[in-house]
Amino acid sequence: MQLKNKVIIITGSSIGIGRTMARTLSAQGAKIVLNARNAARLNKTFEQLKSEGIDCIAVAGDVSKMEDCEKMVAQAVAAYGGVDVLVNNAGISMEGSVENLDPEVFRKVMEVNYLGSVFPTKAALSEIKKTKGSIVFIGSVAAFRGIPDYSVYSSSKNALTSLAEALKIELSDAGVHVGIAYVGFTENDPEKTIFNADGKIIAQPKRDFIKAESPEKVAQRVAKMIANRRFKHVFTPLGKLNAIMTRFLPGIVGFVLSNNYKKKKG
Ligand SMILES: NC(=O)c1ccc[n+]([C@@H]2O[C@H](COP(=O)([O-])OP(=O)(O)OC[C@H]3O[C@@H](n4cnc5c(N)ncnc54)[C@H](OP(=O)(O)O)[C@@H]3O)[C@@H](O)[C@H]2O)c1
Repeated sequence: MQLKNKVIIITGSSIGIGRTMARTLSAQGAKIVLNARNAARLNKTFEQLKSEGIDCIAVAGDVSKMEDCEKMVAQAVAAYGGVDVLVNNAGISMEGSVENLDPEVFRKVMEVNYLGSVFPTKAALSEIKKTKGSIVFIGSVAAFRGIPDYSVYSSSKNALTSLAEALKIELSDAGVHVGIAYVGFTENDPEKTIFNADGKIIAQPKRDFIKAESPEKVAQRVAKMIANRRFKHVFTPLGKLNAIMTRFLPGIVGFVLSNNYKKKKG
């Protein structure tokens, strides 16, 4: 699929990977629908991207609310006449053991990462069927194996695999592309936040010990997935190693995760 003049909704695009994807996909000629909950920050991004010559609109809304997703799609259609691609990018992470996590963190992470991918998909589906376009889920290499202290984040990204697999078959006669990107560790936006165990929003702790990919590289990989209508794509060499090891040598992966966890806990 050529991206020139395609209308692309990117959820969670006021900062981070989503905002970078807006720039990358626009550079290939796409029209962008930006989205996030914080309207003031979204508007700042919208103004910045407009000043860079990017053809975009911004629709503030929460992807875990069906009515907000319907409004987002309606505004995309009103502005551009249809929708070609939906990138389900909005997501939130957390840190804390199952024992210590506030139950609300489980609910909120699943609401944003899982329902927040289901609802935009349902809202945009009839439009995307008309254009025989694409629906892409932004998953994570954390989906392959439950990661200690990131249980609900891993679960929510794992759930996207089943969602994408089911949807791909359901849409096989409709000519719609379904893809899922297993994104590896990515350089974080300075404004990125996560939930702590108490359910408070905190700044993402530094992860200097991990080699991270640039958001530009992630965005280029997603653009290529859309263009080539690729189904599953695991990003980064570490992500690929993780996927292969988890499949063929799960005991070793368990051993490494367990050892690292014990070291972390001292
Ligand atoms: N960074 C990584 O290392 C990494 C690795 C693998 C996968 N990923 C995945 O890549 C995606 C983007 O990650 P990122 O690091 O770029 O995140 P980020 O910097 O924290 O940005 C998240 C974006 O999503 C928006 N958002 C959050 N909740 C939302 C909701 N309920 N409705 C609408 N928008 C919402 C945020 O704005 P508001 O708060 O204003 O809504 C923001 O624009 C996520 O799905 C993440 O899980 C990231």
